[in-house]
Amino acid sequence: MTKTKIILAYVVLFYESIACANAANTISANQTVGINETIVSPQETFELGFFSPGNSMNHYVGIWYKKISKPTYVWVANRNTPLADTSIELTLTVQGVLIIRNTTTGFIIWSSTNSSTTSLKNPIGQLLDSGNFIIYQDGVDINQDEPIWQSFDFMTDNILPGMKLGRNFVRGIERHISSWKSDDDPAVGEYSDWIDTRGYPQLLVTKGQEIIYRAGPWNGLRFTGTPNLRPNQLFNFTFVINQREIYYQYNLLDPSVLMRLIITPNGRPQRLLWVDSTQEWSLYITPQKDRCDDYKVCGSFGSCNIDNSPVCSCLKGFEPVSPDQWRVADWSQGCQHAIPLDCNPGEGFSRYSNLKLPDTQWSWYNQTMTLVQCEKMCKRNCSCTAYTNSNVSGAGSGCLLWFGELIDIRAMAENGDTLYIRLAASELETMEHSRSSRSEGRRVRIIVPVTLVVLGILSTFLLYRIFRWKQQQQGTARNESGHDHLENRIADEDLELPLFGLSTILKATNNFSMSAKLGEGGFGPVYKGVLEDGQEIAVKRLAETSTQGLHEFKNEVIFISKLQHRNLVKLLGCCVEGGEKMLIYEYMPNKGLDSFIFDKTHEELLDWPTRYHIINGIARGLLYLHQDSRLRIIHRDLKASNILLDTNMNPKISDFGMARTFGGNQIEANTNRVVGTYGYMAPEYAGDGIFSIRSDVYSFGVLVLEIVSGEKNRGFFHKEHSNNLIGHAWVLHNEKKSLQLVAKCLAETLNVSQVLRAIHVGLLCVQRHPEDRPNMTSVIMMLGSDGPWPSPKEPGFYVGSMKQDITHSLSSYGLISNNELSISILKGR
Ligand SMILES: *[C@@H]1O[C@H](CO)[C@@H](O)[C@H](O)[C@H]1NC(C)=O
Ligand SMILES: *[C@@H]1O[C@H](CO)[C@@H](O)[C@H](O)[C@H]1NC(C)=O
Ligand SMILES: *[C@@H]1O[C@H](CO)[C@@H](O)[C@H](O)[C@H]1NC(C)=O
Ligand SMILES: *[C@@H]1O[C@H](CO)[C@@H](O)[C@H](O)[C@H]1NC(C)=O
Ligand SMILES: *[C@@H]1O[C@H](CO)[C@@H](O)[C@H](O)[C@H]1NC(C)=O
Ligand SMILES: *[C@@H]1O[C@H](CO)[C@@H](O)[C@H](O)[C@H]1NC(C)=O
Ligand SMILES: *[C@@H]1O[C@H](CO)[C@@H](O)[C@H](O)[C@H]1NC(C)=O
Ligand SMILES: *[C@@H]1O[C@H](CO)[C@@H](O)[C@H](O)[C@H]1NC(C)=O
Repeated sequence: MTKTKIILAYVVLFYESIACANAANTISANQTVGINETIVSPQETFELGFFSPGNSMNHYVGIWYKKISKPTYVWVANRNTPLADTSIELTLTVQGVLIIRNTTTGFIIWSSTNSSTTSLKNPIGQLLDSGNFIIYQDGVDINQDEPIWQSFDFMTDNILPGMKLGRNFVRGIERHISSWKSDDDPAVGEYSDWIDTRGYPQLLVTKGQEIIYRAGPWNGLRFTGTPNLRPNQLFNFTFVINQREIYYQYNLLDPSVLMRLIITPNGRPQRLLWVDSTQEWSLYITPQKDRCDDYKVCGSFGSCNIDNSPVCSCLKGFEPVSPDQWRVADWSQGCQHAIPLDCNPGEGFSRYSNLKLPDTQWSWYNQTMTLVQCEKMCKRNCSCTAYTNSNVSGAGSGCLLWFGELIDIRAMAENGDTLYIRLAASELETMEHSRSSRSEGRRVRIIVPVTLVVLGILSTFLLYRIFRWKQQQQGTARNESGHDHLENRIADEDLELPLFGLSTILKATNNFSMSAKLGEGGFGPVYKGVLEDGQEIAVKRLAETSTQGLHEFKNEVIFISKLQHRNLVKLLGCCVEGGEKMLIYEYMPNKGLDSFIFDKTHEELLDWPTRYHIINGIARGLLYLHQDSRLRIIHRDLKASNILLDTNMNPKISDFGMARTFGGNQIEANTNRVVGTYGYMAPEYAGDGIFSIRSDVYSFGVLVLEIVSGEKNRGFFHKEHSNNLIGHAWVLHNEKKSLQLVAKCLAETLNVSQVLRAIHVGLLCVQRHPEDRPNMTSVIMMLGSDGPWPSPKEPGFYVGSMKQDITHSLSSYGLISNNELSISILKGR
């Protein structure tokens, strides 16, 4: 007995001594770190040692987070020198150089620096809680003096708080991050995220030599291309430009938060935040959002606007270099001055606002000049094409000049910058004239919406930050069972969706009072609410018993939170608390399109110009879903009641509960759970469960015919034949009597050529064979210009045996007859 006790005590002692040795946060000259040993920072935030990433058999020296379960390497010493076996050790030499040595041969395999001439007294290596490994001379105050060497100067693919991305001219170093080759291989990959200092400093992502994304120059407040970078409660940030250094840096305001910026192996810059409750890194923000963020997408002097279709247009005063290519959406050649410049002294500058500033590779700057001096300077030099303040903070200061073509401009919905572009004298006159003649009537009307928009943006932003913050604070405490799955799912999907507290929603809707109720949706009631700051919201509350609804709820959260377009309804956030699941949207005062076009008492409120505006808006929203967003999305339930109207009668597509996303090249998919609404479903979809963007186009066609005629496709009855609305439109078209289809109330406001165009497009969209139907790009082009277009072939509508099934399913659900209801049928096959 005594013997075992002694042995046990010995074992415990032995392990404690190992634990002590491992917990060291410093290494001194001649000390080694073996393959199974590590150095740990004082607060145990970071750990340094050997590791093998993912499935790799190679060994690397690196730094990772000690506290978290998921291996996350923030720095790799020998990323390009993999170590194939374990006969290795890490040593600090007496010259203060960190080396990896082959213990069999004694040879040095990797070293922290090549210039080891300095002779030092007692160098010490120390791992700090910032994740920085520094080497300094014993006795030197590390808070005062620069260390001899630090890992923060040799970044891998992570920007940690406190790191400086950019250049130090005094020390002649450049710090940037570059991607890993793959998740298993930390070797330098293709992508880099760096500060380009060739002209006015700007942040770029490059693939090899090629720029793929440009966050752009720092304007004193943010990078011009990152409107979302704003003061917040999680981190602060700064950009320093002086003669000694140029760098970007951010710092955490709460030391308990873990955050890092990375460039992924496939070239995506991302800011990630560690979420304890899910044990995952969740995407906090990614600067690259949509097509308009692809570098130079619209060519020189072109401007990309994601709300437009097509997205590219020439800046005012410019025209396509090749109109033919421009027409077919090949924008590579860009635009040129409509009136060429000839260095005439009458040339001047026109103001363009709300832009992402162009590429500053060929630019010049001075941080103390004023805007007036700046204009003079640009005017003097005929190759200067544009100027602006380099710093928009406060009243604006500094001078930034561009020489040559202006590249990679986009129109910004918010937080855009102003640019003054050189134009010929005669061009300036035309622009001045059109500006002054327009401004009179416009001013009054614009003020209100702008104020509302600003308020809207501010309040959404505030809410977002506040609730996000609260969420983080409550992160660990709020681990109620039952919602974990959903929350995990939301985190999995890399979402950045504000979470609203239940109490906020209860207050906003007056405890879900009857008077706040707007109506009943497919999966539960919808309420109107007013937040404390006055913002109006619509709250979709999932009925507790609906499992079907839970699926749709997640779907909606996942899709719509990733989408942003002026013709899509905006999801402000969600609330998952106390057994409740709710979606919070911007409030649409005019409700659904169906409440106008199908309602004889309201139909006159929508005159023809408004209806045409609505048709075009829906088309643009759908084009965005199908092509322009980074996801390819099939809505699957497009119908009049899912088109909401804002105060200005702008249409917004809503209800993504049934949407599906498609991979890049996927054309169609098959489902045995057909969902949709009777009357809007394409025949191949209703019949065989095949859905594609062309089945959405079909629904769009039905919608267009409904908007023109004011009749529902389903439920339409003509006394002379048994056709539905589509069939009726087809008959009239063939008899060249299409105008008879038009709703009587439109007689006075009708534009005949637009109406005929709309009907023609509608019929092309509802053709029987999916491959005959146009895509949304063509639809928008056809709506915008007169023919000639192809003649529509016979339309398709489902007349097969499923009619029976639908009636069955519906009645077995016990629903009252309502042909506008979305249905869901499991097809046996
Ligand atoms: C380190 O090792 C070298 C060679 O073995 C020796 O000359 C030197 O004195 C040692 N330095 C320290 C600080 O232990
Ligand atoms: C390191 O640890 C592994 C697993 O614990 C063990 O197999 C290996 O022998 C150890 N290597 C050394 C050099 O101690
Ligand atoms: C160390 O040297 C031995 C003998 O040359 C060799 O077999 C081994 O692969 C080397 N290890 C590393 C990690 O380079
Ligand atoms: C040391 O020199 C080698 C070969 O020239 C080079 O590849 C390596 O990057 C250099 N290392 C450092 C830390 O400068
Ligand atoms: C950011 O926060 C850090 C830590 O709280 C502070 O030391 C630093 O001065 C702040 N920087 C800026 C630019 O506000
Ligand atoms: C910037 O402009 C100011 C005022 O014109 C001038 O005094 C200063 O020398 C300029 N600085 C540089 C770096 O050109
Ligand atoms: C105009 O600016 C360009 C670019 O900085 C410069 O190369 C050229 O010499 C300038 N021309 C004049 C007349 O100042
Ligand atoms: C921008 O201007 C503000 C004052 O308006 C100043 O505090 C700030 O340092 C300037 N930023 C840069 C990068 O020059």
